Amino acid sequence: MNTYARLPIAMERGQGVRVWDVNGKRYLDGLGGIAVNTLGHNHPKLVPALQDQIGKIIHSSNYYHVPNAEVLAKKLTELSGLTNVFFCCTGLEANEAALKLARKFGHDKGIEKPQIVVYEKAFHGRSIATLSATGNPKIQKGFEPLVEGFIRVPLNDLEALKKATEGNPNVVAVFFETIQGEGGINPMRADYLKQVRALCDEKDWLLMIDEVQCGMGRTGKWFAHQWAGIKPDVMPLAKGLGSGVPIGAVVAGPKAANIFQPGNHGTTFGGNPLAMRAGVETIRIMEEEKLLDNAAKVGAHLKAALEKALAGNPGVKDIRGQGLMLGIELAKPCGVILQRAADAGLLLSVTADTVIRLVPPLILSEHEADEIVAILVPLIEAFLKE
Ligand SMILES: Cc1ncc(COP(=O)(O)O)c(C=O)c1O
Repeated sequence: MNTYARLPIAMERGQGVRVWDVNGKRYLDGLGGIAVNTLGHNHPKLVPALQDQIGKIIHSSNYYHVPNAEVLAKKLTELSGLTNVFFCCTGLEANEAALKLARKFGHDKGIEKPQIVVYEKAFHGRSIATLSATGNPKIQKGFEPLVEGFIRVPLNDLEALKKATEGNPNVVAVFFETIQGEGGINPMRADYLKQVRALCDEKDWLLMIDEVQCGMGRTGKWFAHQWAGIKPDVMPLAKGLGSGVPIGAVVAGPKAANIFQPGNHGTTFGGNPLAMRAGVETIRIMEEEKLLDNAAKVGAHLKAALEKALAGNPGVKDIRGQGLMLGIELAKPCGVILQRAADAGLLLSVTADTVIRLVPPLILSEHEADEIVAILVPLIEAFLKE
């Protein structure tokens, strides 16, 4: 179907942070398949592990235990400090499960019409419920009626959150991304995260943090909210968790871990042996290769280099983000940069119309980050002069 405005490029293969198209043209990958290819392409440890798994068993069904699901769940609970995991296949599916958890959390307390606080500019997916939670009218248009039960508030404004929920006994959860991805790389402040955690505790609401894009090491910690020293009750994951193999997960703490009972939720493909192996191996390799440190170090280097090169340019409104999740906000819509960067041999994305987004594989080196800067800065400068 006609769902994507694709560039006239077809990729054939990749190696590390390089990708080649079917005509042999080489690109530096500043996109990582939209924050998915954690380990880059054709990783020498991941590929043989996946080949081994495919030769053993790809899929078995949720009628039976999947040993690596238990290994991966244990790992995710250790890394997050939470207790239980549900596996699915995509980010929206993880968020759907989170929304169902929040509603049932409410029903179990006798709340018949539970309401969930969501944020302006948020992106949670394109199913009917997750697009209703999303804060972008363009994504919602044409798919009304939206799912009810959402209260929308601005980012980083505790008073607005308190006012929007004041005296409302139907609120059951607060749901946001630590750093909004599709919304334009908009971080939640650490002090705000702590205040919302405290408010959720006080009110007995679930704190649900969508780490689908900003999680899995991208900011230099396993999960971006960990920079604020807090823990959510529910954390949807996907994207980078399988380094390219479709996977999603909802990690839950004690307040949310026992809400679902057999029959409440499920999915055919979720937690299958291939995806679980991809998750286990991705985390193992990330630990072996110290990719969290690398994301923090190379991300800081890349951000500093961009700031230096673009300093004083009035068309550059902001450079923000953390680790290898960076956004360069320009003063005018910059969708054309996508094709121009590809022509110049660099893959990236443009989000929220005016923000150039870099979410490369976490194996990026400082030298490769310098290459991104060398290609991108002249493109931005030329574009801003037009
Ligand atoms: C924060 C966030 N949540 C959810 C999603 C939806 O994930 P998926 O496209 O795998 O359904 C995305 C995708 O961009 C995302 O960035």
